[in-house]
Amino acid sequence: MKYAHIVGWGSYRPDKILTNNDLARMVDTSDEWIFTRTGIRERRIASERETTATLAFEAAARALVVADMHPSQVDLIIVATSTPEYIFPATASRVQDYLGATRAGAFDLSAACSGFVYGLSMAAQSIQSGAVRNAVVIGAETMSRVLDWEDRGTCILFGDGAGAVVLKGSSIPGGVLASTLRSDGSGGDMLSLPAVYHNPMPMLGPEYLRNGHQKNTVAMNGRQVFRFATQVVADSIEETVLKAGLTMDEVALIVPHQANVRIIETAAKRLRVPVERFYMNVESMGNTSAASIPIALCDAVSEGRLRPDDNVVFVGFGGGLTWAASVLKWDVTPPEVSLPRREWRRARYIVARTRSKLKKWRRKIIDTVAGSPTPNARMRDADKKQ
Ligand code: COA
Repeated sequence: MKYAHIVGWGSYRPDKILTNNDLARMVDTSDEWIFTRTGIRERRIASERETTATLAFEAAARALVVADMHPSQVDLIIVATSTPEYIFPATASRVQDYLGATRAGAFDLSAACSGFVYGLSMAAQSIQSGAVRNAVVIGAETMSRVLDWEDRGTCILFGDGAGAVVLKGSSIPGGVLASTLRSDGSGGDMLSLPAVYHNPMPMLGPEYLRNGHQKNTVAMNGRQVFRFATQVVADSIEETVLKAGLTMDEVALIVPHQANVRIIETAAKRLRVPVERFYMNVESMGNTSAASIPIALCDAVSEGRLRPDDNVVFVGFGGGLTWAASVLKWDVTPPEVSLPRREWRRARYIVARTRSKLKKWRRKIIDTVAGSPTPNARMRDADKKQ
């Protein structure tokens, strides 16, 4: 029997801070309104040079340092995101290239704010089945790029960032003990983000899009989402803890999706668990969607909130509708990685970038020197030969 243990963790938050007071200069709102309704004071915003893939890479690189693992040992990379730059190539493939993880499969996972827990569960099952040995699961978002900055109902909630964990197969019992994944597509319109090619009024033809009517920004019914979240958080935690053969008293820490302090407080009340057992950093990060749980996990670890052999619960909820929970035994103490070794690790990513550039140049040179028939031309040539 194989067990999937978390052996590395890392997060990345962009430098730029957007406070509630900054927002009050952009839309009709106030620090007091936002803080009392959500618990958020500020959020991070990616710079123009940063993308979901670069944030994801930074978090993954840090997680691999903690895991003391070379990128070539990674078999699988999953990036949970709702804000990829491209539908394809996947953000995960770009991260694979940036890391130089030459032996890894890579794909993106779309389950909105539940995406990280979905990804963790998929990766853990791949390890438990023996299909892969090690995996990197990342939650990464540039939500600031898909917000309507004139809609005070949504733009005050979200922020940018990335978090990652490294999972490793082991015969030692522990790691990911149980997961629950759920969806209710009937509530899809409560929280949505249309794809770039989506025409909400197809009967009016493509002209409708050209006239600037299309809005590729987050739309939300806040009250309905609030009601949904308070119901599913407590239920999914209870169900998953039971599946893991534990009781709520045996759970040391719950790391929930960081959407709103009031949602977390209501879930704590429903579970009859002291709210202190829920880790929260929504005040400084806002809602970073799929990135929020791994970022919160990293903060919880650095604040000493997790000790070896603690049972920890991750719980996510969001668009889809989707919700998910995982229970883990936190049983791996990271090795001490010396500063020179850390720096040496960073250097290999420069090597990875150089190798990637060389591969691109090589393809270009082959194209110009030898010519590269298109697949259609190749088929025509093959037909002629027959
Ligand atoms: N600043 C000031 N006033 C605002 C505002 C803002 N940023 N946003 C909305 N309002 C106003 C509304 O226009 C409304 O005014 P009205 O009564 O004159 O019509 C009033 O505040 C109440 O609006 P309402 O939407 O009922 O507020 P609320 O108490 O439900 O709080 C949310 C709004 C978004 C904070 C709350 O519904 C929420 O947190 N929902 C969950 C959202 C979430 O977490 N989404 C992500 C899940 S992954």
